[in-house]
Amino acid sequence: MLKPLELAHKLLAEVIVPEDVVVDATMGQGFDTVFLAKLTKNVLAFDVQEMAVLATRKRLAETGLSAQLILEGHEHVDKYVNKYVNKYVNKSIKAAIFNLGYLPKSDKRIITKPDTTLPALKKMLAMLEVSGRIALMIYYGHEGGEIEKCAVENFVENLSQKTYQVMKYAPVNQINTPPMLIMIEKLA
Ligand SMILES: C[S@@+](CC[C@H](N)C(=O)[O-])C[C@H]1O[C@@H](n2cnc3c(N)ncnc32)[C@H](O)[C@@H]1O
Repeated sequence: MLKPLELAHKLLAEVIVPEDVVVDATMGQGFDTVFLAKLTKNVLAFDVQEMAVLATRKRLAETGLSAQLILEGHEHVDKYVNKYVNKYVNKSIKAAIFNLGYLPKSDKRIITKPDTTLPALKKMLAMLEVSGRIALMIYYGHEGGEIEKCAVENFVENLSQKTYQVMKYAPVNQINTPPMLIMIEKLA
């Protein structure tokens, strides 16, 4: 069976075509950026840590791929979609992925937080094309993780079912706190 991140990639790959604009909201070590850059040349990747940008740049160089790496919070996504992909005058995106939590092997105090995650998600939902998808990988075993998980779940549970289809996928018999996936598709 697919693990949550594998399912997230599969469901995003189903809708992304080469001209699409897509967002990696949490660059980290660059795994998702590389995944997206294999599907389209218009990838915007965000992180607040310089080490994430450096790690991602290295990973892209190793694979011969490219993406716009942006050292800023994903809550400013609207500014950059217009700046880097100006032919897309309607500022739309086809897909995005969030990996919520902290960057492994780095400062565990630098975590994603609801007061920036939710504004970023709202902006990306507003920019999302019909039939576009957003994957939210939620890691919540760290301090602050449970609060963010609850905030995100509460937000997506209240999205209109006429406009969005929202799905949840997670292991139920694992010890510790394995990550869960929330997948959103824009219907109208
Ligand atoms: C779980 S890691 C991401 C893992 C990454 N997707 C990968 O493939 O390695 C979460 C990342 O979110 C970043 N982050 C925290 N707050 C952020 C924000 N407001 N905007 C963008 N990134 C943020 C952290 O610096 C950290 O690198």
